[in-house]
Amino acid sequence: MRHWWEDAVFYQIYPRSFADSNEDGIGDLQGIRNKLGYLVDLGVDVLWISPFFKSPMKDFGYDVSDYRDVDPMFGTLDDLRTLLSDAKTRGIRIVLDLVANHSSDEHPWFFEARSSKDSPKHDWYLWVPETGRPPNNWTAIFELGSAWHPNLATGERYLGTFTKYQPEFNWRNDELREAFYDIMRFWYALGVDGFRLDVATGYFKDSELRSNPFSSKANPDFFQKHIYDRNRPEVHEVFKEMRAVADAAGERVLIGETHGQDRLLAASCYGKHDDELHLAFNFEFLYEKWGARNFRESAERWYAALPDGAWPNFTLSNHDHPRHAWRYRGRRFGGASSEAETEARARVAAAMLLTLRGTPFIYYGEEIGMTCYPFPRAALRDPLGIATWPLRGLGRDPERTPMQWTGGENAGFSTAKPWLPINRDYRSRNVATQETDPASLLSWYKSLIALRRAKAALHEGSITFLDLDVDVLAYTRRAASCESILVLINFASQPRAISQGAPGRVVLRTARAGGTALKAEGIVLKPYEVVIAEV
Ligand code: NOJ
Ligand code: CA
Repeated sequence: MRHWWEDAVFYQIYPRSFADSNEDGIGDLQGIRNKLGYLVDLGVDVLWISPFFKSPMKDFGYDVSDYRDVDPMFGTLDDLRTLLSDAKTRGIRIVLDLVANHSSDEHPWFFEARSSKDSPKHDWYLWVPETGRPPNNWTAIFELGSAWHPNLATGERYLGTFTKYQPEFNWRNDELREAFYDIMRFWYALGVDGFRLDVATGYFKDSELRSNPFSSKANPDFFQKHIYDRNRPEVHEVFKEMRAVADAAGERVLIGETHGQDRLLAASCYGKHDDELHLAFNFEFLYEKWGARNFRESAERWYAALPDGAWPNFTLSNHDHPRHAWRYRGRRFGGASSEAETEARARVAAAMLLTLRGTPFIYYGEEIGMTCYPFPRAALRDPLGIATWPLRGLGRDPERTPMQWTGGENAGFSTAKPWLPINRDYRSRNVATQETDPASLLSWYKSLIALRRAKAALHEGSITFLDLDVDVLAYTRRAASCESILVLINFASQPRAISQGAPGRVVLRTARAGGTALKAEGIVLKPYEVVIAEV
């Protein structure tokens, strides 16, 4: 049986930066509601909204102090109810972001837990006796120091592998587990369609607290192989329990942030018998170098790693990584215009994301080609960015800048000073300009999404890669109920002559001219050209 999340196109909203409705410089739920028309037009089916729960905002919402309420900065629970019902009327589903690896240190549970070893909540978190030094080498990755933080009241240290403001839960405690399953039921009852599970493979740590071995990789490993502070096998038990709660609520989706680049680990989170997460994020594209062969091999590795019946997913950008338009930006070689090349590559990447077999995740703003200009030190907000300054590419502020709606004041995001600077290209790169231009990147995304929705071959069909040219990513998508679709994507800045050997009818292409006939003897693809044809 097909599930809605397999056919859907997901769109991630970082709520602080999407749209500000009350002019305080910070995006909010009402702002998202005001933009539902835009999202319907774009054609996306599901919104994953990054956390908007009560939070001291030490990690901008990934430090929750009340899992059942909306932070006043973003609105009220009633605003969420209205958003859910308006979205539903427009055919859009909403997925929340559940931060269950850790809470805020200002969560009442932690206040209670840290007050005394005898507190009933003490065992909900993770502790070691204070001996004057940490028990192992685990690090708080946003502070670049030890993950073990002192707690004077109990003469202990607690664990926080992000910041000291994010104490980590003890998922071996049954009451804690039940508390989270109840939270999930609460949101299901309110009508949310599922959860993205933050740090899903982090819930369990080694019971012997062994030190992690060294890794030569800085990003994303921070020079440690995280085999003891996360990625423990016990997590599968919890996934099965969460799945049972989701199933009981009916057709709700669980999407795991299955840490790091380990595709086998991610694949294992679907469960051996389709009894764990519905989707486990495949993050390989976030680190992939430009090139048809790289992406093809990455996709093939992912398909091969998945257990039988597991549905793939792909993502090029999110709120933790430099945006892909920036990662793949054109460089000024031999006088070539880097702007034009950046734009062409963004189209190529979009075509791949939206025609591969697997659920695509779009990150807000990628549809207009938002990039990541370097930040002045004074404007930094992300704790990781501040800790790693002046190193570039680690801090996450540049990929979280406000959505560029118009070329007007503050890009139409807010009339107040936005919480992060607006990218300097907003006057030319914005929704208003691109909406009226049929040749814009935004129009290209709309066409791709519409085509994906219209053609069963694209949203549910099988995939067969074709060996035509090393620089051309080529595949056929097939479904029993309709014509097959041939996808040809030229990753090169030079033309590529290919012979695909079958006549077809072009249904979408980047270069407008050229007619709709795909001749059996082949085609010369222009630089960065995409051709999608029924064959
Ligand atoms: C992963 C989230 O995507 C990231 O933004 C956050 O800082 C960490 N988890 C900690 O919750
Ligand atoms: Ca606001």
